[in-house]
Amino acid sequence: MQVCQSKEQLKDFKQELKGQSIGFVPTMGALHEGHLSLIREARKQNDFVIVSIFVNPLQFSPSEDLSKYPRPLEKDLDLCKKENVDLVFTPIPEEIYPEGLDKITKVIPRKSISECLCGISRPGHFDGVLTVVLKLFNLVQPHRAYFGLKDYQQFLLIKRMVEDFNLNIEIIGMPIIRELSGLALSSRNQYLTENKKQIAANLFQSLKEGHELINSGKSIGESLLFIREKYLSKFGLAKLELDYLEARNADTLEIYNAYNADIPFKLFVAIKLGNTRLIDNV
Ligand code: PAJ
Repeated sequence: MQVCQSKEQLKDFKQELKGQSIGFVPTMGALHEGHLSLIREARKQNDFVIVSIFVNPLQFSPSEDLSKYPRPLEKDLDLCKKENVDLVFTPIPEEIYPEGLDKITKVIPRKSISECLCGISRPGHFDGVLTVVLKLFNLVQPHRAYFGLKDYQQFLLIKRMVEDFNLNIEIIGMPIIRELSGLALSSRNQYLTENKKQIAANLFQSLKEGHELINSGKSIGESLLFIREKYLSKFGLAKLELDYLEARNADTLEIYNAYNADIPFKLFVAIKLGNTRLIDNV
């Protein structure tokens, strides 16, 4: 497995590949089974697998956890090695943003998909995500790129960007990997105490129950109210701050008002537990 920090080294490596298929998994590191599931799928479907580890400053707001974001690079590299990754690209911010963050051209995400859910509470976040993903796509030039459906809004925005910019990359969405409790794996889970982890596990239970209620004919409004009361309020606002709990069209992210078997929907939730922000969807 090769590890490189510079665009030049990446270019040299790519020159040796000569038309073989490249699968790409962009990450911010602190790798867990969720990331590894993407890497394994990339390994199955491609001749070469490239993983990037880059904590992208452009997608964090000043009040967010950029400096505290976990960076266990050696452990991450070991995990990549075990999964037979061919190349890990670990640039420093200056390699990606040589002139700093202020002087760059940014991608504007599709408004209809970005101005809801996490786009409201994290203004500018998706501009930062799409900008870095586009830059990484141009450097790596993969045939396929793998994203988790846990960050569903991110996945949809990247898919649309690839269509809108006519990029010749297949975007593959992978199922959410969870702990036994149902808690979706996230690099941010390591900020949680055991007690908070138990509270967080209720997110998935609540979404699952909400989904079942809606599928069995209860109205969306009533179902959301029910799970909100049953699961999310019982811990008290001191511990848990609900950002959103919403049903939305799975393709357009428009608000989903009434159940229609022909139109797929998803339930989305985001909470803050202390300083840790967690999201999930079903
Ligand atoms: P990061 O949070 O490190 O996630 C990298 C990829 O792993 C994303 O596609 C994410 O959806 C996926 N992932 C995370 N947890 C998962 C889980 N429990 N099950 C399945 N997939 C999971 O998302 C980012 O980094 C960044 O925004 C990035 C796309 C790298 C751009 O900076």
